[in-house]
Amino acid sequence: MGKLVRTIVILFSMVMATAAVHGIAEDPKAVEKWFEKLTHLKQKLTKFHFYYHDILSGKNPTSVQVAGFNVSAKSPFLFGLINMFDDKLTLGPNITSKQLGRAQGIYGASSLEEVSNFITMNLVFTDEKYNGSTLALLGRDPVFDRYREMSIVGGTGFFRLAQGIATASTYSFNATPNSAVLEFHVIVIHY
Ligand SMILES: *[C@@H]1O[C@H](CO)[C@@H](O)[C@H](O)[C@H]1NC(C)=O
Ligand SMILES: *[C@@H]1O[C@H](CO)[C@@H](O)[C@H](O)[C@H]1NC(C)=O
Ligand SMILES: *[C@@H]1O[C@H](CO)[C@@H](O)[C@H](O)[C@H]1NC(C)=O
Repeated sequence: MGKLVRTIVILFSMVMATAAVHGIAEDPKAVEKWFEKLTHLKQKLTKFHFYYHDILSGKNPTSVQVAGFNVSAKSPFLFGLINMFDDKLTLGPNITSKQLGRAQGIYGASSLEEVSNFITMNLVFTDEKYNGSTLALLGRDPVFDRYREMSIVGGTGFFRLAQGIATASTYSFNATPNSAVLEFHVIVIHY
C-alpha cells in the first residue's frame, strides 16, 4: 500500500514537472543545452528578504521532532535532537502576509557547548517568476547570536549554479505555540 502511494506520488510529481514553467525542471537535454551556453551567460545578483516561521507546537506544527539520542532531551543543549520542517516563508513578519515559498529541510542540535543547530534546507519558491525554483542552504545556526551567516550552496530553475550567503536573525519568539520567526536576508549570484 505504502509503495503504491509512493509510486503515485512520484508519477504525480513527474506530471507536475513536465507541466512546469519554462526553465524550471526541464528535461536533461534542455539542461545540457543551458550548460553549453553558460560561457555566454551573464552573472546575475539577486537579493531576497523574507521571514521564516518555525512552529513546533499547537494545532498545526510545521516543524516536528523526528529523531534524537535517548538522552538528548536532558542534555543542556539538546544535543542530537533532529527536526524535519516545512516552514512558511512570508514577505512580512506576520504569518498572514504574502507567502513567497516554503523552507523544507532538517535541523538538529549539533553543539555540545551552546544552543546551535546544523541546518540543511531547500528554499522552495512559489511566487511569480521564481515559482518552482529552489535554493539549497547549508548552515550553522547558533540561535542566540545576533546574526547567523549561512551558505547558499546551489540552486535549481532560475537559480542554477547559485552561490551566496543567507543572514538569519531572530525576529520573535513565542512560548505558546512554541514558535520562532526568523528574518532572512539572502544574496546570491547565479546565471
Ligand atoms: C506555481 O506553479 C504551480 C505549478 O506549476 C502552479 O500550480 C501555481 O499556481 C503557481 N503559483 C503561482 C503563484 O503562480
Ligand atoms: C542510552 O543509550 C545508551 C547506549 O545504548 C545506554 O548505554 C544508556 O543506558 C541509555 N540511557 C538511557 C537513559 O536510556
Ligand atoms: C497579523 O495579521 C492579522 C490580519 O491579517 C492580524 O489580525 C494580526 O493581529 C496580525 N498579527 C500581528 C502579530 O501583527
